[in-house]
Amino acid sequence: MSQQLITPAAARLHLSPTLAINELVLRTRATGKTVIHLGFGEATFPIPKDVLKAHVDASSSTSYLPVAGLQVLRKSIAQYNSQRLGIQIDESQVIIGPGSKPLLFTLFDIMEGDVLLPRPSWVSYEPQVHHAQKRLFWVETDEHDRHTITTDALEAAYAKSTSAGNGARIMLINSPSNPTGKVFGRETLLRVASFCASKRITLISDDIYSDLCFDPTDLTNSCFASASFNLETPLNVIMTGGLSKTYSAGGWRVGYAIFPATELGNALLTTTLAYASECWSAASAPAQEAATLAFSTSMTMNEYRTRVRAVHKYCTTKLYSALKALGLAVSEPQGGFYVYPSYHPFTKELHSLGVQTSANLSKWLIQNFGIAALPGSAFGEEDGEQGLAGGKLRLRMATSYLYFADEVERYREGYRILDAAGNGQMPQLPLLDVAISALTLSVKRLEQIRTK
Ligand SMILES: Cc1ncc(COP(=O)(O)O)c(C=O)c1O
Repeated sequence: MSQQLITPAAARLHLSPTLAINELVLRTRATGKTVIHLGFGEATFPIPKDVLKAHVDASSSTSYLPVAGLQVLRKSIAQYNSQRLGIQIDESQVIIGPGSKPLLFTLFDIMEGDVLLPRPSWVSYEPQVHHAQKRLFWVETDEHDRHTITTDALEAAYAKSTSAGNGARIMLINSPSNPTGKVFGRETLLRVASFCASKRITLISDDIYSDLCFDPTDLTNSCFASASFNLETPLNVIMTGGLSKTYSAGGWRVGYAIFPATELGNALLTTTLAYASECWSAASAPAQEAATLAFSTSMTMNEYRTRVRAVHKYCTTKLYSALKALGLAVSEPQGGFYVYPSYHPFTKELHSLGVQTSANLSKWLIQNFGIAALPGSAFGEEDGEQGLAGGKLRLRMATSYLYFADEVERYREGYRILDAAGNGQMPQLPLLDVAISALTLSVKRLEQIRTK
């Protein structure tokens, strides 16, 4: 019956693995078990008090806003990104949506052609691409850090797309990356940008974590600033971003897309607006009012972004160092709040326990050690014969739930933690210590098997 009712494309959709693990954590906790939640990339710092107040003050604003979003918010986002990238962006190039996820969904849906994605990539791109009835071709990254994109890898993925069809027309990059926590350096960005320009591929630059580069010199790097790259052919590039990561306000659902000020950019913007008008109409009015303040380049907001970045760096780097000391294969994160370790140094021991894949590993950790982490397969890693040895036992761990035990603590302790970070003092993070202890136990168990 349902087979007749649901389209084949929709039947391929499943609950997003991030949301699915969240529900599994809640169910496990409901049975009285403790779970350390490293599975969900939701930032949890308290939003600045005046941004919160702006949201409360605007709560009587119940009318629909313009489809493209509040003019002052579009201006605030244009100014913020102009300052960040050292380029001129006009508010007319910016569109607001209810999060950047639906904007990405729209872009994949409205543009012609197949898609190149670096492997690994954020969980939602692949289903979005497939739902838009497009073929996806993975650009394979370096096994060591699962990040570097070479010209050979780009050419190989493109060649596959030309043998299968008309050649890819769209590519997406995300830096800092979810899941790897790595930042693409200027050299890699240049390589990707000139490759896409030469093949007339439209590039989507998902800059949602761009404020969270641990090295401040990386903050200004984006393919959206490709005008300064001196490419032979101009690049068609769209940038997306939002309120969810830097400002910990995912639930307010405010995201944006910025289009190039070209004929092609205008056509994409106009079509995105038409799509939005038939789909979500407009993003939340109070959240847009508050977001106008959040994206401001005032000293207060610049300081807020700096503090949030410093604490994420501290916590994420600490988890990385602990994983490395335990003997897991992991490369150093350079931004965001993720680490992407592989248990492959313990492949033999895990196989003896029947753990063959990243999905098995994720289940083993939650059942035996109360650690929830997302399997690498959710990010495109192959668990089968074709997959990389390390990839089959990779997990993505998010540190963003390690700051506060609950919502009360978030608001009681959060402002104090951020203020202290302004003075260079980093917090005690008991939940991080609990996470490291549980991960240590998991590795000790494997070491015991090794010495038997
Ligand atoms: C890489 C990446 N892009 C986009 C998003 C979407 O964020 P939002 O829809 O809240 O703007 C996320 C959220 O997890 C993400 O990790």
